[in-house]
Amino acid sequence: MAIIAVYSPKGGVGKTTIAVDMAWRCAMRGGHRTLLWDLDIQGGAGFLLGAEPNQHPRAASLFQREGNARRLVCSTRYTGLDQLQADPSLRQLPLQLARLGQRSRLSWLTRDLRRDYARIVLDCPPVLNELSEQIFAAADLVILPLPPSPLGARALDQLRAEFSRRDRRHPPVLPLISMFDSRRKAHHEVRNGSMAGLPMIPAASPIEQMAFRRTPVGVFAPSSDASRALDRVWREVETKLGELNIPPV
Ligand SMILES: Nc1ncnc2c1ncn2[C@@H]1O[C@H](COP(=O)(O)OP(=O)(O)OP(=O)(O)O)[C@@H](O)[C@H]1O
Ligand SMILES: [Mg+2]
Repeated sequence: MAIIAVYSPKGGVGKTTIAVDMAWRCAMRGGHRTLLWDLDIQGGAGFLLGAEPNQHPRAASLFQREGNARRLVCSTRYTGLDQLQADPSLRQLPLQLARLGQRSRLSWLTRDLRRDYARIVLDCPPVLNELSEQIFAAADLVILPLPPSPLGARALDQLRAEFSRRDRRHPPVLPLISMFDSRRKAHHEVRNGSMAGLPMIPAASPIEQMAFRRTPVGVFAPSSDASRALDRVWREVETKLGELNIPPV
């Protein structure tokens, strides 16, 4: 069982798109029972999977003392893939978590779900606050999408600095270049320079189309270059998880 957080303090870098694709691949390609947990009030993950919004906003209620994640889990159109949708109740979550004073609330909730799922993918909001602390405490692996620009490299440095100044355990981070445009010289410069050797996801129309079709790219364009690139990233994540020797439940 592994918890994969798709996280970046930067907004709009492809987190939700990657989280949905990753969860879909874990379930459909890897055959793992997978839960996609949307922690971002924007609710993009459910949208990309074609889900209807929750009638009763209670995503944040899970984090209360009596909260039970299983009660809010919904199935998706895809075999082996369930989801926990976001809704407007998450607005208060960082405050609620701080008030609860339980730094490990998210870890505790995910631990409870470990029996049901082999993979839990967290779609994270672009924040550095109480919620990101809980995400770092819960995750076995953090996928960090970075735009191919000096600001992307800076976000990586900032996260490393953030981790190194903490005395608590932090999960391993898999940085990757997101939205790489091969026509841009500047992108090549970054890819060959400060981000050399990182896995890369191209800026590509089929990936963008996920939001219009509300369907994972692997369903409607499985042999596109874009889907193949995402498949390579998923494989890299699986390899990394294998190396981590995560103890079984
Ligand atoms: N590789 C890609 N190629 C083309 N378009 C992409 C790619 N990845 C994401 N997009 C598009 O970029 C936009 C932002 O993507 P996404 O919502 O996944 O980012 P995010 O990091 O989750 O944003 P936020 O910080 O707001 O949660 C969306 O319109 C999405 O369709
Ligand atoms: Mg997002």
